[in-house]
Amino acid sequence: MYPPIWSLARKAEAGDVIGGHDIEAGDTIVLGTYVVHHNPRYWDHPDRFDPDRFASDRAKGRAPYSYLPFGGGKRACIGSAMSQIEAALALSVFLRDFEFEYAREEPPRISLTVTLSPKQGLPLRVRRRAQAVASYAPIAWAPAARRSARAADPEPVQRAVGAGR
Ligand code: HEM
Repeated sequence: MYPPIWSLARKAEAGDVIGGHDIEAGDTIVLGTYVVHHNPRYWDHPDRFDPDRFASDRAKGRAPYSYLPFGGGKRACIGSAMSQIEAALALSVFLRDFEFEYAREEPPRISLTVTLSPKQGLPLRVRRRAQAVASYAPIAWAPAARRSARAADPEPVQRAVGAGR
């Protein structure tokens, strides 16, 4: 709902009418992605943390191009799939072992510079979860040599992640 790239720009090749506005060839058209993501015509409570809004039953029938964090059409982001897999992986590793809690009283505000970001940062309290350690030993993507060393002697791994807390 908070697209890092919060607007997209296009130059019109030919005249047109969009939403009742005359467009001439050469005009620059700016599409406010953030605004689209917060348009109540397409989204209920866009500021609410509600990941289930993307569940297939709720996404069914939603207007095409109402969600554009990676742009759309011919010039859509080529890194979209990779970024989403990477983000899910990184989050799952963090959330497996740590809890995050927003550390200010007042809600975060947004800052629109080149990208959309939280104004004055997003301070968080981070706590290690109680049973965090066990899941570390052999990490699937660690090089084979390191994996077998860990299997033979798991202690260095446990030391590295702070066992014995
Ligand atoms: C969270 C991460 C990312 C976001 C939010 C993002 C967002 C976007 C957006 C909105 C566009 C469309 C720009 C427009 O229509 O004017 C775009 C285009 C593009 N992105 Fe990404 N991007 C991300 C990651 C990546 C990654 C990881 C790569 C490369 C591996 C990448 C490569 C590109 C390229 C090459 C284009 C231009 C495509 C074209 O014009 O044909 N992006 N990106």
